[in-house]
Amino acid sequence: MQHTSNLYTTLPDVKLAQKLCSATGYKRVFFGNSGAEANECAIKLARKFGVSKRGDKCVNIITFQNSFHGRTIAALEATGQDVFHKNFFPFTGGFRYVPIGDKEALIAALDKSVCGIMIELVQGEGGVIAVDPEFVRYVQMICRENDVLFIVDEVQTGIGRTGTLLASEQLKVKPNITTLAKGLGGGLPIGAALMDETTADIFTYGDHGSTFGGNPVVCAGGLAVLEQLLDNGVLDDVTQKADYICAELLKLPQVKEVSGMGLMIGITLNDGVNAAEIAAECVKNGLLILTAKTKLRLLPPLNITKEEIDKGLEILADSLKE
Ligand SMILES: Cc1ncc(COP(=O)(O)O)c(C=O)c1O
Repeated sequence: MQHTSNLYTTLPDVKLAQKLCSATGYKRVFFGNSGAEANECAIKLARKFGVSKRGDKCVNIITFQNSFHGRTIAALEATGQDVFHKNFFPFTGGFRYVPIGDKEALIAALDKSVCGIMIELVQGEGGVIAVDPEFVRYVQMICRENDVLFIVDEVQTGIGRTGTLLASEQLKVKPNITTLAKGLGGGLPIGAALMDETTADIFTYGDHGSTFGGNPVVCAGGLAVLEQLLDNGVLDDVTQKADYICAELLKLPQVKEVSGMGLMIGITLNDGVNAAEIAAECVKNGLLILTAKTKLRLLPPLNITKEEIDKGLEILADSLKE
């Protein structure tokens, strides 16, 4: 069965929601079709929360410079990078951008009109930059003190990518909303917004929805992914694989630095070595690899084997030599 009207629930839909919530400690989940849609859901939740708390001017959301939150108009506007904005104005308004790590600027941007703060724990598209955990905990504290929603975009970091199901577990924070996508469907289109006790009851009937969100085929895919990760041990050695890859990368003479968290790895090359050219060379030699800003970027499958890692590292080393 591919589809039912969203007036109905299906077994895969319910099972996935239950498994996700019990594994993460969240109370409720909304399923959409992508990361951008998961963030749109979070933005709507924050605005409705703000309006109900402090009136209809409480609609602003703080996000961070160099962030990436998606390509729909609101998620694009939430994205703190001009390069993605140009050519797509006008925007709807309601976002303030603060330099990541800057506590003073955060406080300066915070007033009674702010309903939420949204942050990535590793800025992926922004260059695979892990945010200082102390700053993330500060953001959580500021949110709690000011009755503002703490929203974490784990579209890229979530579902085991960093070594734990959610990256927030390692940073010891518990956002009011966590958004997920990418790895959750194992290639099938799904996005999810997880809601805690503060946010679970914000939407009432008719506030939000999606024709294909929570589709049974896609949810069955999501369930299979979670079973592999949590019940069949795929998550267990993600950190070990990541440590091995990073240690091997640092042995390459052209590699200056590695960044990121778990199997989300950024590689800074020596001055004069062009990441885009190396990436193109790797692809020619059989290794699919990305760039992020001036870095090379690795996002290998979580179930990659030691042999596959070694083969990939060998291709990279050869491509760097050429
Ligand atoms: C952190 C983050 N948020 C949101 C998105 C958007 O996800 P999607 O492309 O599924 O809409 C991405 C995609 O790269 C992302 O990395």
